[in-house]
Amino acid sequence: MLGSRALLASILLSLYLIYLNLKGCSAQSSPPNFTRNDFPSDFVFGSGTSAYQVEGAAAEDGRSPSIWDTHTHAGKMPDKSTGDIASDQYHKYKEDVKLMSDTGLEAYKFSISWSRLIPNGRGEVNPKGLDYYNNLINELIEKGIQPHVMLYHHDLPQALEDEYNGWLSSRIVNDFTAYADVCFTEFGDRVSHWTTMAEVNIIGVSFDNGLFPPQRCSYPFGVTNCTAGNSSTEPYIAVHNALLAHASIFHLYKTKYQVYMHIFQSIFLKKGLIVPLY
Ligand SMILES: *[C@@H]1O[C@H](CO)[C@@H](O)[C@H](O)[C@H]1NC(C)=O
Ligand SMILES: *[C@@H]1O[C@H](CO)[C@@H](O)[C@H](O)[C@H]1NC(C)=O
Ligand SMILES: *[C@@H]1O[C@H](CO)[C@@H](O)[C@H](O)[C@H]1NC(C)=O
Repeated sequence: MLGSRALLASILLSLYLIYLNLKGCSAQSSPPNFTRNDFPSDFVFGSGTSAYQVEGAAAEDGRSPSIWDTHTHAGKMPDKSTGDIASDQYHKYKEDVKLMSDTGLEAYKFSISWSRLIPNGRGEVNPKGLDYYNNLINELIEKGIQPHVMLYHHDLPQALEDEYNGWLSSRIVNDFTAYADVCFTEFGDRVSHWTTMAEVNIIGVSFDNGLFPPQRCSYPFGVTNCTAGNSSTEPYIAVHNALLAHASIFHLYKTKYQVYMHIFQSIFLKKGLIVPLY
């Protein structure tokens, strides 16, 4: 079974890394000296980013704002920064992929900006957004780097936040599934590693302490003064809907796409803990 194999591989890997760590720590006098040969041949070395943190081109080629654009543009970052330009990967993806290749990366995990691909959150696909991700994926493959795609990294289309409060509504399940369907259809011929969402527990935290968008919380739990929210109930509602969406997308993948895409990593949890549920 795919799932148990992935789980076993992950456990073995964790044990192996703990072993290497201990081995490294025991030799206090010299730093750990690992080489490729210390790792299994099918161990994949890679690096990852999230769309809003690297793409830039925030208002270009038909992309619409996500809740993070709204948040940063309201001056909510301590240094007042925004992701308008970020690392400009939207324009510099070729240079970036070359740097990855020079570094020797075997995989690149990136997230897709939902509001770049489907600006209204549901419905029409933005052809320029489609071009960008196709170009990025093709460039990676040309350089022998596996593309690993995460569908959601905290950047909900603002349109869906405005329409039904995003994660607080079960309507998110259908919209997220439809977006995933577009991604699987358009990129699944070249991408076989998929993850639904980053840090689902952080989606909950956003509704508890109000630090991250959509900045909802209630006294005394907020670390900021929220204008709306309920820290006692909303974190649970948001995470419940996120888990329902995950289940729905996994079902879609399994019934419609698994024939040619083999690896579905489920959900990342914050703090570096990866839990393959399937
Ligand atoms: C690390 O190991 C390699 C191969 O055994 C060796 O050539 C190199 O000098 C070592 N480096 C350090 C810093 O110990
Ligand atoms: C929240 O509002 C209270 C009362 O107006 C104020 O004392 C406090 O400094 C505010 N906290 C933040 C983080 O803005
Ligand atoms: C949060 O919702 C619960 C359940 O509806 C309610 O009892 C509580 O008063 C609400 N808290 C706030 C701060 O609105």
